[in-house]
Amino acid sequence: MESPPRPTLFDFHGVSMTRFFTDNWENVQKLKARPDDVVLASYPKAGNTWVSYILDLLYCDETTLEQQDSVPLFDKVPFLELYHPGFPSGVDATNHMTKFPRIIKTHLPVQFLPQSFWEQNAKIVYVARNAKDSAVSYFHFDRMNKAQPEPGDWSSFLHRFMEGQMVFGSWYEHVTGWWEKKQTSSNILFLFYEDLIEDFAGELNRLCSFLGLSPSAEKKKHITEKVLFDNMKRNKMVNGSTDEVFDLSISHFIRKGNVGDWKNHFTVKQDEEFTEDYKRKMKTTDLCFRTVL
Ligand code: A3P
Repeated sequence: MESPPRPTLFDFHGVSMTRFFTDNWENVQKLKARPDDVVLASYPKAGNTWVSYILDLLYCDETTLEQQDSVPLFDKVPFLELYHPGFPSGVDATNHMTKFPRIIKTHLPVQFLPQSFWEQNAKIVYVARNAKDSAVSYFHFDRMNKAQPEPGDWSSFLHRFMEGQMVFGSWYEHVTGWWEKKQTSSNILFLFYEDLIEDFAGELNRLCSFLGLSPSAEKKKHITEKVLFDNMKRNKMVNGSTDEVFDLSISHFIRKGNVGDWKNHFTVKQDEEFTEDYKRKMKTTDLCFRTVL
């Protein structure tokens, strides 16, 4: 069967989006949050799947950790704004959940998060990743995901990334928007992909203390093992094998998992241009990223 055409970008209240994330907008905005909800927010390609798997495992009974892998992760962690033919809508999936707390994934910029999450004081974990690696990861993702706009070649993709012409808009506005909100909200935990790579144990402890969880040393060890890059890459319930819009023969969903892969993609000239532009766009924020470890 021929795949449907790839979606196109359009301006949605100042943010580039495709219809797969806006067609259900009223229902997304009307969603009724619960005070025990855990929202996992990020710009695309920041490590959302990694952290959703960690959360999924943290909230499951120690004795059933292994059985966790009988259901695809994407069925257990609904993607709030997703509205795509062939998939349950993120809102319906969220409303039908019977396991609490609900772990809810979103890529929405902070100004679009449904009001009810703020009113209910839900916990929000935001995962951020440096711009250069995010751009590279996003490029490969758009190559293999038939539900995303055509990426074109790397050079044109990078320019569009710098201009915010990506699904979910500008990386710069996304990360700084959530960072600003975090300054006045104790319900937001900011995690960095680079910190998770460098000091997984420390970040796992930070996450647990934010969520008020105290798993046993054994459970933490077990989780740490299960969420290792190589183990996730092999695990069909998390590696995108069950997702029919992914063409894994083009690129993997769990692809490289490195800090600094941008060095294999950016030319010297692209790096200079990107860095100049980055400094201009990020000059008023104290949010800092590491692009190498
Ligand atoms: P790369 O494309 O650079 O490899 P998201 O889940 O938000 O779409 O993020 C995807 C990125 O997270 C991909 O980056 C993917 O490989 C990486 N990733 C997924 N699981 C990981 C893990 N266990 N450890 C490190 N990186 C991981």
